[in-house]
Amino acid sequence: MILVIGATGHVGSELVRLLAERGTPARALIHSPDRAASIQRLGLEVALGDFEQPDTLDAAMAGCDHVFLLSPPHPRQPEQEQHVIDAAKRAGVGHVVKQSVPGADPDAGVVFGRWHAQIEQSLAQSGLAHTLLRPSYFMQNFLMSAQLVAEQGVLYGMTGEARISYIDASDIAAVAAQVLTSPGNHGTSYMLTGPEALTAAEVAERLSAATGRQVRYVNMPPEAFRQALAGAGLPGWLVDALVEGNTMLAAGHGATVTDEVARLTGRPPRTFEQFAADHRAAFGGEPSN
Ligand SMILES: NC(=O)c1ccc[n+]([C@@H]2O[C@H](COP(=O)([O-])OP(=O)(O)OC[C@H]3O[C@@H](n4cnc5c(N)ncnc54)[C@H](OP(=O)(O)O)[C@@H]3O)[C@@H](O)[C@H]2O)c1
Repeated sequence: MILVIGATGHVGSELVRLLAERGTPARALIHSPDRAASIQRLGLEVALGDFEQPDTLDAAMAGCDHVFLLSPPHPRQPEQEQHVIDAAKRAGVGHVVKQSVPGADPDAGVVFGRWHAQIEQSLAQSGLAHTLLRPSYFMQNFLMSAQLVAEQGVLYGMTGEARISYIDASDIAAVAAQVLTSPGNHGTSYMLTGPEALTAAEVAERLSAATGRQVRYVNMPPEAFRQALAGAGLPGWLVDALVEGNTMLAAGHGATVTDEVARLTGRPPRTFEQFAADHRAAFGGEPSN
């Protein structure tokens, strides 16, 4: 039995769909009870739970030999994933697949990298067999800008001419499904990327092609980008983290392209064209029939 944590998010929702399709026994940890029905319709088990309530994690893990561990960015992310690791240890789980970030390091310049490094270290010390997935920047992050793109035909950012190897979250899920159901991945980490590294202007070109409407990229100075994020109502810690992260990307740290998705899943990673076509209506194009 596989316990999927984060089962209603970008990666987890696709992972539970893939496991259900394959007929792999799986249970989803559900945080918001009104989201349980969509998982149950797939024929999977659900367990209500919260990272901050360890007893709910113990109940969810009963009888599970694998855990997919993912949590959203949050100042308590290290403590929250620690609760999962402790529960996995108590339950005698045989293998944990953890979603991390590229460049996770105690001295990383981005707080996300420092938080994930802390969790990775604790996972290593736990003695649990584990595999680390390090996906690049998600294509799905652009959905946060979709309304502005649709309304104004403008994509705002601060990564300048830098190339970034955007990955579709469904490719991370496909790798996770593979790693959770096949032997030989213990003690390994995989750097996962899309098929190519694109500039933001090239992303805008692909959004133009998918929507049939002109989308142009406007590069903002970091301070203006910061103010725009704060103006959109994001909490201060997240604004700081996103400016930090985008500064690293602008300096060229997101450009690496690997062949891990193809090697592990047997098919090439999805392109930005495919992602943009799937979401053309959100970005202001005519819905496809
Ligand atoms: N975005 C990127 O470009 C990127 C790149 C590399 C790595 N990452 C890493 O990927 C992770 C995020 O992945 P994602 O985008 O797939 O996540 P996501 O879409 O934000 O989903 C988060 C999941 O966690 C659940 N959750 C939230 N609070 C919870 C709680 N207290 N207890 C139990 N479950 C809870 C959510 O359920 P509800 O919705 O019901 O609350 C949801 O299912 C982060 O660790 C991030 O650092 C992201």
